[in-house]
Amino acid sequence: MKAVPLCMSKKVLITRIIPPLAQELLMKAGFEVSVWPGAGPMTQPDLIERAKQVNALISLGADKLDKTFFSQCGHLDIIAQFAVGFDNIDVGEATRLGIPIGNTPDVLSDATADVAFGLMIAVSRKMFYLHKTIQQGAWKQFEPLKNLGQELTGKTLGIFGMGRIGQVMAQRCMGAYSMKVIYHNRSRNAEAEQQFNARYVSFDELLRESDVLSVHSVLSAETKGLFNKEVFKRMKPTSIFINTSRGGVHNEVDLIEALQQGTIWGAGLDVTNPEPMKSDNPLLLMPTVAVLPHIGSATVEARNGMARVAAENIIAFYQRGHVPYCVNPGVLVERK
Ligand code: GLV
Repeated sequence: MKAVPLCMSKKVLITRIIPPLAQELLMKAGFEVSVWPGAGPMTQPDLIERAKQVNALISLGADKLDKTFFSQCGHLDIIAQFAVGFDNIDVGEATRLGIPIGNTPDVLSDATADVAFGLMIAVSRKMFYLHKTIQQGAWKQFEPLKNLGQELTGKTLGIFGMGRIGQVMAQRCMGAYSMKVIYHNRSRNAEAEQQFNARYVSFDELLRESDVLSVHSVLSAETKGLFNKEVFKRMKPTSIFINTSRGGVHNEVDLIEALQQGTIWGAGLDVTNPEPMKSDNPLLLMPTVAVLPHIGSATVEARNGMARVAAENIIAFYQRGHVPYCVNPGVLVERK
């Protein structure tokens, strides 16, 4: 870690308007805070110019903090991402430069798992599609054989990425539907195994056995485009694919084809590839598909929590040389 002077009056740039709690906490701790007031993210050249004037950043997922950014902003003491995901940041480069990267897990786990859970139910009963058919005047009578969905009770939930959000999703599904939980992860999760009787399985078994396969992994070189044509073919034709992590984890062209050909049964997406999704995307017309515009953490509680944690990551860093939620903790040396 670089030597960080203890004196306050450090400057922090917040790259979008976020809940005011972040600014309030930082100012109370003696920081000078500026907030980019635009309705959308800055261009990278603007971001670089503004970041050059400050000591620390609160960044968002749309900010491209890549090699170009770091080549001009290596002076930053800390970057606190207002998100749990940080695939917009070249963490390797930040680490090489000794810049800690904070993020905001935990506070958004309930909110994001709720979206995964809601999408699962919505897809299983074709809810988004049927809502639209009423608007189109197509509800004429009770239909004994139409609009049939699938029940979830007793089915098998496959979690890809058993971290904090995956665990809450497993808890919801077990409590509500007595679903059996299997998971695939980089490492075993003893807590999930104990609490939800979750069974660790190979990726192949996860695909073969899941009735609902819910993705909660990070987007990385290993997971980019992982859910593609070949992978969908290894899933059950009755299965539902849910993605609330990053759209880059699935290949959307392949997903559309898998749904059109009945390779899998349905899909619920809170993240798409690319984002934003175009309004003429064929997925939006499919009965067994539900799509949301990346709202996983969009609750008052979660967003306030994210603002608090982002600010606390910066404050704790300058006050104690510690970042409570740090994705590259190797750069930190405890300041005694
Ligand atoms: C949202 O997508 C997040 O990573 O927090």
